[in-house]
Amino acid sequence: MKIPTPISINTAQTNIKPDDQLIIPYHQTSYLIDGRIDQWNGPVEPVESPIEFIHDGQKSRKIGSYPRMDKNASLKALDSAVKSYDFGRGLWPTLSVEKRIEHVQTFIKLMQAKRGDLVKLLMWEIGKSRKDSEKEFDRTIEYIIDTIDELKNLDRAASRFTIKNGIIAQIRRSSLGVVLCMGPFNYPLNETFTTLIPALIMGNTVIFKPPKLGVLLHAPLLEAFQKAFPAGVINTVYGDGQEVISPLMESGKIDVLAFIGSSRVADILKKQHPHPHKLRSVLGLDAKNPAIILPDADIHVAVSECITGALSFNGQRCTAIKMIFVHQTIYRQFLERLSDAVEKLKMGLPWDDGVQITPLPESNKTEYLHNLVQDALDKGARIANTSGGQYNNTFFSPTILAEVNAKMRIYHEEQFGPIVPVLPYHDLSEPLQYIIESKYGQQASIFGQNADDISKLVDTLVNQVSRVNINSQCQRGPDVFPFTGRKDSAEGTLSVSDALRVFSIRSLVAFNATEANKHILNEVLKENKSNFLSTDFIF
Ligand code: G3H
Repeated sequence: MKIPTPISINTAQTNIKPDDQLIIPYHQTSYLIDGRIDQWNGPVEPVESPIEFIHDGQKSRKIGSYPRMDKNASLKALDSAVKSYDFGRGLWPTLSVEKRIEHVQTFIKLMQAKRGDLVKLLMWEIGKSRKDSEKEFDRTIEYIIDTIDELKNLDRAASRFTIKNGIIAQIRRSSLGVVLCMGPFNYPLNETFTTLIPALIMGNTVIFKPPKLGVLLHAPLLEAFQKAFPAGVINTVYGDGQEVISPLMESGKIDVLAFIGSSRVADILKKQHPHPHKLRSVLGLDAKNPAIILPDADIHVAVSECITGALSFNGQRCTAIKMIFVHQTIYRQFLERLSDAVEKLKMGLPWDDGVQITPLPESNKTEYLHNLVQDALDKGARIANTSGGQYNNTFFSPTILAEVNAKMRIYHEEQFGPIVPVLPYHDLSEPLQYIIESKYGQQASIFGQNADDISKLVDTLVNQVSRVNINSQCQRGPDVFPFTGRKDSAEGTLSVSDALRVFSIRSLVAFNATEANKHILNEVLKENKSNFLSTDFIF
């Protein structure tokens, strides 16, 4: 494997196709508050690409900037969301489900027109390969469409009355209030939208802050948000979290915190809210998902799933396999095959055909990974693949660390990068103890062929993690499946249908079944006087 040199492209004589060429510099100066797209004239935050290039004869990684908003600007976004929600009396929370769906459908059309721009920005801002960037965009559109279908089902089921003990009731789901949505840098579009869209469609108003990396790619959508939704329903803030997010949390006016990121930041944010019981949290956090390779595992399957599981998008997935326990009897064989497979991965730039390993966007990430490797080597690990351990600027060569043990940082820390720690076990109690003692509890993968062994392991693991994968990598999808975790890995459950539930609460209208009440209700229904009390069926 050859590590690409840092100066990989020259924007003048380039190997990038015109379609992938970013207009440099790309300065985002606008933000959306209260239905207006305003220009920011204050300080800006520079955006660095993980890709180094030559522009106007100069080496650079600077591709643009975005507004570094301050407390005042952020509080304006909050006022707008609070005003638009108006304690549940605003236009959006009282709109019928059918109408809210129409707004989201308008948004989908406008968003689809921006696919090319978003894919390009995903590649430049976070170094995601073209194939994965396109997949992220398409998966997000599919998620929104599935959300609409699911909401229709939910609404259809609620379009009837329930009668019990002489009481008649209509039970539906209502909005919760103002939602603060923040997604992670590794899926800046998809994971943000898996909370943003359900929050909106259930009638909440939203303040949306893009992740620290992957900001610019949201800029082309500002106009779509503005056109598709009523004023104040969605508001954007940009800047330093402490400056713009803390005041929002401290105001006590945030009803739901939807955050996908580190548990450390989630804890800080939750503590800032003065009314902990008022605040609902929907959190996707850290993970250190293990794979357990049983003695009778099909090595070909195990290697191929572990490669995808550990190294897709350079291992920068919360669901990535981050520790591999291999039964001692097949340890050498597994390690050899894994190393061969890793050496075949193609490193390069996001638009290179067939590229699998791309530059890392987090600042100083390669140094952090290098230190993890060095720490492991100092404590007795070895690098099992030829190109392991090499790095160059933002490129880090996928590295298999063998004979990892509990004294090493890599055993405990979530590497979120292309290091694959592997260790032999003698008895199943060893990986199980690791999982029990772990701070995290998202997923695990087990590889084997004996139904008895697999069943026993499954029955133990389902009480430790939230998804057990058999002969398959760990992953979030398909998005209709529940995505959650135990311990420090998550709070709340996301899936197309679960997300609609977490951003809403059941509300019912009930009345004694007297003739007088029935008469009133008949009039309400016949004349479509209420959006909540309604037997209309969405087709
Ligand atoms: O970073 C965590 C993502 O939810 C992972 O999603 O498993 O579909 O790549 P994925």
